Amino acid sequence: MIYPIVAYGDPVLRRQAAEISPQYPELARLIEDMFETMEHASGVGLAAPQIGLSLKLIVVDATPFGPEDPVAAGFKKALLNPEIYQEEGELWDFNEGCLSFPGLHEDVSRHAVIRIRYQDPDGTAHDETYDRYVARILQHECDHLNGKTFVDHLSPLRKALLKRKLDNISKGAVDADYRMRFPVKPKHR
Ligand code: NI
Repeated sequence: MIYPIVAYGDPVLRRQAAEISPQYPELARLIEDMFETMEHASGVGLAAPQIGLSLKLIVVDATPFGPEDPVAAGFKKALLNPEIYQEEGELWDFNEGCLSFPGLHEDVSRHAVIRIRYQDPDGTAHDETYDRYVARILQHECDHLNGKTFVDHLSPLRKALLKRKLDNISKGAVDADYRMRFPVKPKHR
């Protein structure tokens, strides 16, 4: 099932997500649906709050970056309760987008290397180090679980310049080739 994706401005994107148990009802189905929703929208990552569920669950498909990054080539998975507990290495800019912000792409500066703890859907615990593209996607998706989005990394000036664009996203005055849920209802004309 393809879920509508929640647009910027919805309070669920500002909330701190709750822990999710591997025993969560129909978890396998939910993960499958999140992958389907992400793929339908040509995304490389999707966090549960983006389908309106304030839970610490993300799906990632880094394989489109495979030609440039061998680790990304093999990285397609669902992560429960991911927590980035260390970031290090150089800061590098990458032009990020987000399925909750159709049409918006901005350079975001983040550390190159992360250490992350998470669980597999079967409950197996992991503690791993990633860099480059996989780190970047995980940083972006983990932000969603903490009520943050990529525009929060922009300077206040840049954010102010984007205000109208952001307002339009909240109002649904954007073109997305996937179904979305907008927080601000359009006025009747
Ligand atoms: Ni996003």
